[in-house]
Amino acid sequence: MKPLKIGVAGLGRAFTLMLPTFVDDARVQLVAATDPRADACERFRADFGGHTYDTIDALCADPDVEVIYLATPHQLHAEHVKIAAGHGQHVLVEKPLAISLAECDAMIEAAAAAGVHLIVGHSHSFDAPVLQARCIIESGEVGAVRMITAQMYTDFLYRPRRPEELDTAQGGGVVFSQAAHQIDIVRLLGGGKVTAVRAQTGAWDPSRGAEAPGGIRPAEGAYAAMLWFEGGAFASVTYNGYGFYDSDEACEWVGELGAPKNPEVYQSGRARLAATKHAAAKDALHEAQLKAARNYGGATYVPPGAAPPHHQHFGPMVISCERADLRPTPRGVMVYGETGKALRPAPRAAVPRIEVIDELVAAVREGVAPLHNGAWSRATMEVCLALIESSRTGQEVRMQHQIAPRRITGV
Ligand SMILES: NC(=O)c1ccc[n+]([C@@H]2O[C@H](COP(=O)([O-])OP(=O)(O)OC[C@H]3O[C@@H](n4cnc5c(N)ncnc54)[C@H](O)[C@@H]3O)[C@@H](O)[C@H]2O)c1
Repeated sequence: MKPLKIGVAGLGRAFTLMLPTFVDDARVQLVAATDPRADACERFRADFGGHTYDTIDALCADPDVEVIYLATPHQLHAEHVKIAAGHGQHVLVEKPLAISLAECDAMIEAAAAAGVHLIVGHSHSFDAPVLQARCIIESGEVGAVRMITAQMYTDFLYRPRRPEELDTAQGGGVVFSQAAHQIDIVRLLGGGKVTAVRAQTGAWDPSRGAEAPGGIRPAEGAYAAMLWFEGGAFASVTYNGYGFYDSDEACEWVGELGAPKNPEVYQSGRARLAATKHAAAKDALHEAQLKAARNYGGATYVPPGAAPPHHQHFGPMVISCERADLRPTPRGVMVYGETGKALRPAPRAAVPRIEVIDELVAAVREGVAPLHNGAWSRATMEVCLALIESSRTGQEVRMQHQIAPRRITGV
């Protein structure tokens, strides 16, 4: 099979994380890119010999490009998908799909009108142990899903950020960036169709927010939510990005990206940010520059090392089913059945996030409908937006755009 030729829009953090996947999977090839950061484009040309362009429009017009990997800031996804689809390009867009349901609708319509695939990833619902848990559920072995519990505690809010990433109106805060992972996982395991959401968000640090009428509006750094599913299952999901407890402690000290963590090193996000003296909103520009400098092509960029030894994950979770509890781990799925417990190992692929390329290649080359398509991801965004709305109104929010996941076994 000839490699699928990818044009990259946005050579930032997300691209930096996907780079080992693109480089190590022979089914894809990086051929072109666009980013306003000249240093990133220069490095791309040096590393891949590909073309770089001044605009996404020019990138999408490159006849050599077959798929656009869209890793620009969330608030640009809708406009950029429209441009890519207008040029007849398939799109692999980073999560979250967009920041409003109207934008999601427009993107889905643009892709359908152009007859191109719209795949949303990477999200941690692509992690092999999550897909393995879904396969166990699909097989009928453990009976119906009854309850899901998922937690994640990180230093998300104290990693260097662009100003928009701390502004809810532009998709800032943990709901858009992190619930997009957690809700996608929980929907996949719970059968997809959420009926109602009740949630509370926490926005507790005024130094991590955006200018708003009446003063700084802190970004959401935490949430807790109850979700109810068609069929009777329910889920509780919790996220805290305030940088104290690190839930990787409950994941065998394996980090989100599958690499071992040193248990002796305490969460470093707050201290690192404080050390730069740019934590306050007035230093937002410097903080954004700090983030860019660590990204691909930047002054402090460090290329990825060897592939991590474990699977990626998104915190501890338990799926309680009729006849067993399932616990995805960085090594596979622990199954706690009626007579005992056992680990079902998930073989580790040589290429991290290979599942994203599996889905992309199957869709574009073989016409297999992707699981993480626009409609699936719109449903995840509907739940994410409901977290914010429920917290604001104090009311339960009913869902209207939910869909079941397509079967992943036997496809
Ligand atoms: N799946 C993951 O693990 C993961 C991790 C990080 C970010 N993301 C997602 O990736 C997206 C980008 O976030 P990020 O953290 O990489 O941000 P970032 O700021 O690190 O990178 C964004 C890049 O896009 C570039 N850019 C801005 N406007 C552009 C334009 N008009 N055309 C081309 N490039 C443009 C910026 O210069 C920057 O290099 C977000 O939607 C985020 O949610 C996903």
